[in-house]
Amino acid sequence: MAASSSSLIRNSAFLLVLTFLVTVTSTARYVGALHIDVKLTNDLGAGLNLTVHCKSIEDLGVHVVPYNGFYNFTMDLSFFEVPPHYCQFKWKNVTYPWFLIYDQSRDWNLCRNYCPWSIKQQRLCMRTSNSGATKEHCYTWGS
Ligand SMILES: *[C@@H]1O[C@H](CO)[C@@H](O)[C@H](O)[C@H]1NC(C)=O
Ligand SMILES: *[C@@H]1O[C@H](CO)[C@@H](O)[C@H](O)[C@H]1NC(C)=O
Ligand SMILES: *[C@@H]1O[C@H](CO)[C@@H](O)[C@H](O)[C@H]1NC(C)=O
Repeated sequence: MAASSSSLIRNSAFLLVLTFLVTVTSTARYVGALHIDVKLTNDLGAGLNLTVHCKSIEDLGVHVVPYNGFYNFTMDLSFFEVPPHYCQFKWKNVTYPWFLIYDQSRDWNLCRNYCPWSIKQQRLCMRTSNSGATKEHCYTWGS
């Protein structure tokens, strides 16, 4: 009786440790960067101001960025997860639909803790550099 209850306790303790290890292992890839910086550069063309409005759980407000200028913000990795962030872009008299600017499952392996975007008239591109080679991941407006 005593033996079986102590082995039950041992088994429960083992399961607890196992659960803990599995949890730590599966979230470990998100540890290492406590902050993620997102940078949005206005590459629309000379003389064009870009109006940027980003939000997630919090509204980050409206910012006007001159050509060649940028707007940046930092996201915190709380509980190893960053909620999706959306931005709305406007120039001349056109407002483009909300765009998913940061999605952890899409972007974590692409840009890790620094996610720079180039905002152009035809598309918006995230620039990543891997061992010196620069790559652009582009999306057309409305995609
Ligand atoms: C761009 O923004 C600046 C500063 O807000 C403003 O002075 C300028 O007139 C704007 N240019 C255009 C073309 O809207
Ligand atoms: C924005 O970028 C500037 C210059 O690279 C940097 O010094 C600053 O810490 C950044 N701010 C945020 C909120 O990421
Ligand atoms: C504003 O948009 C209309 C079409 O919706 C276009 O005809 C007009 O030229 C635009 N004005 C400017 C200043 O871009």
